[in-house]
Amino acid sequence: MPAELSPIDTAKFAAARRAVDLVQDGMKLGLGTGSTAAWMVRCLAERVREEGLRVQGVPTSTRTADLARALGIQVVTLDEAKWLDLTIDGADEFDADFNLIKGGGAALLQEKIVATASDRMVVIADAAKEVAHLGAFPLPVEVIPFGWQSTKMLIEETLEGMDVLGREVTLRLSGDAPLLTDEKNYILDLHLKRIGEPRQLGVALNQIAGVVENGLFIDICDTVVVGHGDGRVSLRDLQSGQAEEGSIDMDRARNIFADLGD
Ligand code: A5P
Repeated sequence: MPAELSPIDTAKFAAARRAVDLVQDGMKLGLGTGSTAAWMVRCLAERVREEGLRVQGVPTSTRTADLARALGIQVVTLDEAKWLDLTIDGADEFDADFNLIKGGGAALLQEKIVATASDRMVVIADAAKEVAHLGAFPLPVEVIPFGWQSTKMLIEETLEGMDVLGREVTLRLSGDAPLLTDEKNYILDLHLKRIGEPRQLGVALNQIAGVVENGLFIDICDTVVVGHGDGRVSLRDLQSGQAEEGSIDMDRARNIFADLGD
């Protein structure tokens, strides 16, 4: 791993590192998916190694499970853990109410199950993820492969009655074939541009037969930690109103991420 991080990786690293400070000994943790969450897993593994922190991690994808195991974090299933103290995950977008779009990495189903089975969900993100209105990022919807084209038509029909600016729906591909999620489902991406009523849309989508889950996380996230390219980091908590500004010492951190490996 290079000794210098790009500004975007510095931002993700800073957010991840601050969020990992929230982890206490003995906690059961939800481990998110994506490039920011991967930094979190590395920072957590560093605390496990250096401090002897004892945690159990429930990964939200096979990618995260593989990384966590490789770095020495104890991995358990959600059925073994049953309920979690804290989930730390990335997001594709978040708004002022901490409503989220997730699923850019196709892991939204396990991510939502794990986040809603947690006392607290903390989102880690770079500043570009903060938006006034959700929807510029295409909304991922996980659907059963059986009859997916009919499900797509029903989604398009539902969008007609919704407060959105765009209505194009596309099947996510991996090469020439449909991308398969960890649950062997497909992902439809909804190009909505702007979502006026995220709560209403989330409920309507989940009523369609064939839809497994959608990537709108409404009233699930409690805390957002935002990292910046110069190592500054801010933490905001919705319920307590806590707002904290700080910065990660990137000179010290450089030793850590140089050791972390990919
Ligand atoms: C995975 O399915 C997603 O929900 C990710 O959490 C989200 O896409 C953020 O990913 P990055 O941290 O890579 O931007």
